[in-house]
Amino acid sequence: MRGTAPKERVDGTPPLLVADMRTGVDVRSKNGFAFRMRLLGEGDGMALREFFGGMSKKSVENRFNSTAIPDDYIKKLLSPSGGIRAAIATVPNGGRERIIGLAEYGVGDDERFPDLSVAVADEHMGRGVGGRLVDWAIADAMGGDHDGFSLQMRIENTAIHRLMRNAIGKHGMGTSDRWDDKGDIGYKIVFKD
Ligand SMILES: CC(C)(COP(=O)(O)OP(=O)(O)OC[C@H]1O[C@@H](n2cnc3c(N)ncnc32)[C@H](O)[C@@H]1OP(=O)(O)O)[C@@H](O)C(=O)NCCC(=O)NCCS
Repeated sequence: MRGTAPKERVDGTPPLLVADMRTGVDVRSKNGFAFRMRLLGEGDGMALREFFGGMSKKSVENRFNSTAIPDDYIKKLLSPSGGIRAAIATVPNGGRERIIGLAEYGVGDDERFPDLSVAVADEHMGRGVGGRLVDWAIADAMGGDHDGFSLQMRIENTAIHRLMRNAIGKHGMGTSDRWDDKGDIGYKIVFKD
C-alpha cells in the first residue's frame, strides 16, 4: 500500500483528495477554466452516453481505436462491480450536469499496472481538463495497491503524448516496457515512492 494522501504538487495546484471526489470538487485549471470533478456514479448513465455520443469521429478513434464505442464498456463503467475506477469532469447545463471529461483505470488482468484512459469533449479540449483528470487517476491509484499505469495510444495523438509527458515530469514518475506497433505506441508509467 502506498501513501494515502497525495502530496502537494510542484506546480502549486492543490491535490485532489480522493475522499472529496465522492461528493465533488470545484476545480479551476491553469488557464482559468472552471469545472467540477467527482467520481462517476451509477446514476450518470444518461449524461455519460451523451458525452460519448458527442465525441467527434477522430476522438472516438483515438480513444477506442475503433469507430464505435462498445456498450459493454459503458455498462462496465457504470457498474460498481465493473472493476473500473472512474472520475468525471462536469459543467452545469440547464439545471443538470454535463459531463465534459472522463478518466478511468480498469484493473482488468493487470492489477499492478492497470490501463489508464482519458477523454475530453472536443469543445473543451486544451483547457487543462484532461491534465486534471489524469492527476486524479495518479493520486487515486497511488493510494491503492498499484505500481503505475499501462498506456496505449496512437502515435499521431499529440495531445495525449504531451499530457502524459507533463504528468510524468510533474509527478516524478518513471517509464518502462515501451513498445511500438502498427501506429500504436505503449509503455508503463511507474510510480515512485
Ligand atoms: C488527449 C485528451 C484527453 C487531452 O485532453 P485535454 O483536456 O485537451 O488536455 P489538456 O488541456 O490538459 O492538455 C494537456 C497537454 O496537451 C496539449 N494539447 C491539448 N490538445 C492538443 C492538441 N490538439 N495538439 C497538441 N497538444 C495538445 C496541451 O497544450 C497540454 O500541454 P501543455 O500543458 O504543455 O500546453 C483529449 O485530446 C482527448 O480527449 N482526445 C480524444 C481521446 C483520446 O485521444 N484519449 C487518449 C487515449 S486513451
